Amino acid sequence: MDGSGGVAEWFRQGPAKPRTPVRFRSPPPGLDLLSALRLASMPMLGSTDQKASPPEASSAGSKRSHGGMPFAIELKAVSKSFGTVQALRGIDLVVTPGEVMAFLGPNGAGKTSTIDIVLGLSHPSSGEVSVYGMEPRQAVSKGLVSAVMQTGGLLKDLTVAETVRYISKLFGQSRPAAEVMERAGITEIAERRVGKCSGGEQQRLRFAIALLPDPELLILDEPTQGMDVEGRREFWKAIRQDAAKGRTIVFATHYLEEADAYADRVVLIARGRIVADGTAVEVKSLAAGRTVRATLPGADPVALRAVPGADSVEVRGDTVLIHSSDADNVARFLLNQTAAYDLEITARGLEEAFVALTSDGDGETSPKEFVP
Ligand SMILES: Nc1ncnc2c1ncn2[C@@H]1O[C@H](COP(=O)(O)OP(=O)(O)OP(=O)(O)O)[C@@H](O)[C@H]1O
Ligand SMILES: [Mg+2]
Repeated sequence: MDGSGGVAEWFRQGPAKPRTPVRFRSPPPGLDLLSALRLASMPMLGSTDQKASPPEASSAGSKRSHGGMPFAIELKAVSKSFGTVQALRGIDLVVTPGEVMAFLGPNGAGKTSTIDIVLGLSHPSSGEVSVYGMEPRQAVSKGLVSAVMQTGGLLKDLTVAETVRYISKLFGQSRPAAEVMERAGITEIAERRVGKCSGGEQQRLRFAIALLPDPELLILDEPTQGMDVEGRREFWKAIRQDAAKGRTIVFATHYLEEADAYADRVVLIARGRIVADGTAVEVKSLAAGRTVRATLPGADPVALRAVPGADSVEVRGDTVLIHSSDADNVARFLLNQTAAYDLEITARGLEEAFVALTSDGDGETSPKEFVP
């Protein structure tokens, strides 16, 4: 998979699939099944809205992109606070129909907070959100959006097929259980008890459930967390085959490799702000470079910054950390021109790249420091 659009094509080949109207009705009482189904447990499920194709933008100047079609997602200056915690600090984001977008960021960056807002599970403290030009809950109730969440209580004693059939009964109309199980690659384990399924199989089951309303937009919040390599591969294979039919996909992940392999657009979020938005290749270049660490009492940061290849310098007590695109040159300088010892050179991880992108040195963040 190269960065020249191969991923996008791979996801998008084939015509957009025909849409079948889906009607919702109230869930059976006491059926607290799934969390996939944090969505299914929402009061709006009682709505009798007809499943709709994404609406045409109706009036000039309204939320639209795309030849008169509304954006799949549009966030404008969205902020979210939990007490004193500022989880989101002004998120502007547009996702156009058909995109496969990875939302990449370290723990606590704000990925789930953003996704919850897009799904109508929480509301922004300020700013605006629209999904297919409407309120998130309305879009969910129309079957335009569904989600595979990070965790969620599947009932262990049901089989895979029983679970899908029960959930499908929450909807007046949905895709057939057999079809979504096939798409999610779980037909062969249909009669297996959920409690016996691996983590990866359970995630594919959540995926099958999310497909029941045949959504235009599928949102996945770290769907492969905790899975082994094989589980991840199987999971993404199923998503990939489904996405080829034209579904818009947004997924949150910690893993750059996952974003690289499965998304054609990567949005980096750190400390509640979007710090970069581009192709996986562009994002990978952010994490390029290495960090040279050494013990150097009395280090002069100004002199170190002047060393060719030194991108940024941190001095912590007797330790210096130099982020560099030319670590060899920095190491040579430290060893030959200074009294530095205990040298270590490490690859710069994404986490460090995020910090480098957003830190202005006093703990505050400053997205404008990012220059792609
Ligand atoms: N209900 C809540 N109450 C208080 N703080 C919260 C709540 N939900 C999220 N936060 C805080 O908001 C920030 C963003 O959290 P969020 O869950 O959106 O991050 P994330 O990017 O999804 O992280 P992870 O990769 O660990 O899932 C964190 O500092 C988190 O502790
Ligand atoms: Mg999260």
